[in-house]
This record gives sequence, C-alpha cells and structure tokens, in this order.
Amino acid sequence: MTNFHSFRPGELWPDDHGVHINAHGGCLLRHGGKIYWYGEHKVEGRRGNLARVGVHVYVSDDYYNWRDAGIAFDVKNSGSTAVRPGCVIERPKVLFCPRTGKFVMYFHFERDSSYQDASIGIATADAPEGPFQLREITKINPGFWPENTPPELRDPARIAASAAKLNRISCGENPEAARGSILGACVPTGQDSRDMTLFVDDDGRAYLIYSSERNSTTHVAELTDDYLGRTGRFWRIFPFRWMEAPSLFKHNGKYYFIGSGCTGWAPNAARSAVADSLQGPWTELGNPAVDDGGELTYGAQSTWIEPLGGGRFLFMADIWRPDNAIDGRYLWLPVEFEGERPVLRAPREWSLESL
Ligand code: DGJ
Repeated sequence: MTNFHSFRPGELWPDDHGVHINAHGGCLLRHGGKIYWYGEHKVEGRRGNLARVGVHVYVSDDYYNWRDAGIAFDVKNSGSTAVRPGCVIERPKVLFCPRTGKFVMYFHFERDSSYQDASIGIATADAPEGPFQLREITKINPGFWPENTPPELRDPARIAASAAKLNRISCGENPEAARGSILGACVPTGQDSRDMTLFVDDDGRAYLIYSSERNSTTHVAELTDDYLGRTGRFWRIFPFRWMEAPSLFKHNGKYYFIGSGCTGWAPNAARSAVADSLQGPWTELGNPAVDDGGELTYGAQSTWIEPLGGGRFLFMADIWRPDNAIDGRYLWLPVEFEGERPVLRAPREWSLESL
C-alpha cells in the first residue's frame, strides 16, 4: 500500500500496486465510509483515446492512497453489443440512488471517433465496484423543448436551416450555431450530449449537465427519482458560449460552475459562473485559474468538484496526454474564494489538512 499524505498535482500517482492511476475524466463517490474514484481507463498511444477497456474504479479512505478495485464497467462485458472496444466512453459520473439502492453511472457515448452520436450511456450496478451493466444509450429529452427556449429558436426557417446541415456543423466555436436552431433541429430525436456531469441538489433531485447544440450551449436536465430517466424538464444555460468539461458545486446556497472552452484535448482558459438557481440565470465570473499558467488552466481541464464539508471543495481536472493517453495526469486543487468568486491557485504540493 502507498502512504501518501499530500496531493502532488501533475505527477505520476501510483495506486496500491505502484501503477499510475488510470481514471481519467472522472468523479468521486463517497459511500459506506469509503471514497470511490471512477474514470476512463486509457491505454498507451493515441489509440488510448478510445475506450479499449472501460471505466476503472479505485477505493480510498483518505483521498491520497488508492486501491485498484478493477474495471467497474467493462466494454467487453457491458450487457450490450452497442458498447465494444474502440467506442468512446468519456467522463463517467456515478451516483448512488437512495430510492432504488442502485449505483447509477452516466457517461458520454460515441460509437466511434467521428463523435457524431453525442449520446449518453447509462449503466447500473448493485455495488460501488460494479460490475455495471448498460441500461440505455440515448439522446436527451426527445420531443421536449427547454423551459427557457427563446422564441427565435422555435422559428421554422431557422430550424430547417440547421436540420439541413446538422452533421456538418462543427463542435468548435462556430457562428453558424447561433444563426440557426440546432436546438429545434434536435427536438424530434433528442438533444446532443457530449461533455457532461451529474449534480445532486440538497433536496435529492439529480441533474445531468451537458454540452449540447454542437457544444455551443450547456443544458441542465432534471432526472427522475430513480436517476435513470429524464423528466423532460430542462434548461439552456450559457447560450453560445461553447463550454466543455462542466463541473458544479453548491456553496452558501449558491450554485457554482467551473468548465472549459472547446479546444479538443488541448488546454484552454477555464470558465466559472455563479447562480441562485441551477436553471439560471448564471453570471460568469471569468477564469478561476488566476496565477501564472492559469491562461491554460495550468495545462488541465475540469472534471469534478467534490464537497469535503466545512465549506471546502476539491477541484479535479485532467492533464490530457492525447499522444500517449495512459500517461494523462491529474490536477487536484483546493477551490479557494476571493469574496464570492472561486479561484484556483497555481499547482503546488498540498494536503487537505492545510485547508
Ligand atoms: C474535450 C473533452 O473535454 C474531452 O472529454 C474529450 O471529448 C476531448 N475533447 C476529445 O477531443
């Protein structure tokens, strides 16, 4: 077993077998007195950017030392032929549903590297370490409109213009997105969902937050009580701001968002925002990475923010290594506050006890 007492952002992070932890784009789940870390299992080289193995899970008592608990969701044994080696499984997020006693995993799913499916995969397990079995691959809320849809996005001419070229509209910043109505074009089949996260509010209601409309706009979709379905209620936030890597937390009654811009695996300047309600309106607060190197978020991209109690929050991010995916590193930092603004200071070795 390892015996770490601090976080060392960006360095190799050995598990209990001395192997660099393999859980990228991940999340934490506290359950039964343990901490579980789920993330994408990567393999060597560029081929490692696709899902060759599945979702890895590690277990810890203290956030520093992690036991390898194996593959929680195995692409070769997922319960469905839709999921197979070489598909895309990104940003897995896991919740425990108190109502059903199930562990529920959501992830971004693509059949292949063309990234045209923009779907969500949902898998469940009876134990935190898995095995998770696939329940559904789907788009979001077919037939429904967001509750805060602006009238111009219901304009049939705009919808038709976007529908005619949907698969050709790029997922990077692109004025085309704001000229048409990708939203309206996607209502019949359901909305795109690429980078995503889950968030459970104080009342137990869970939400899926995802980059949609070809990444141009973030959506917040309410989940059913069993966390398996979408209720049909959803909202657009950050319209035409092209954000990825959403992560959220709640502090002193306010909702905080930290995400990124849209530059593939390359780092960019993080974004942050605050709101009184998840549904918005959200006020952007700028790049929370305020020190030198912060213009590229210290080389990292957000994936999860873990509440630690006592107003302390752990920001988790990935330093992607797309040329050798398995070598991707982790940047875990404390969320600090300047007034009401969350800030991420330059990476340094640190420990929870110092907060
Ligand atoms: C950036 C996203 O945040 C990652 O999860 C992944 O989808 C890459 N883009 C792929 O280029």
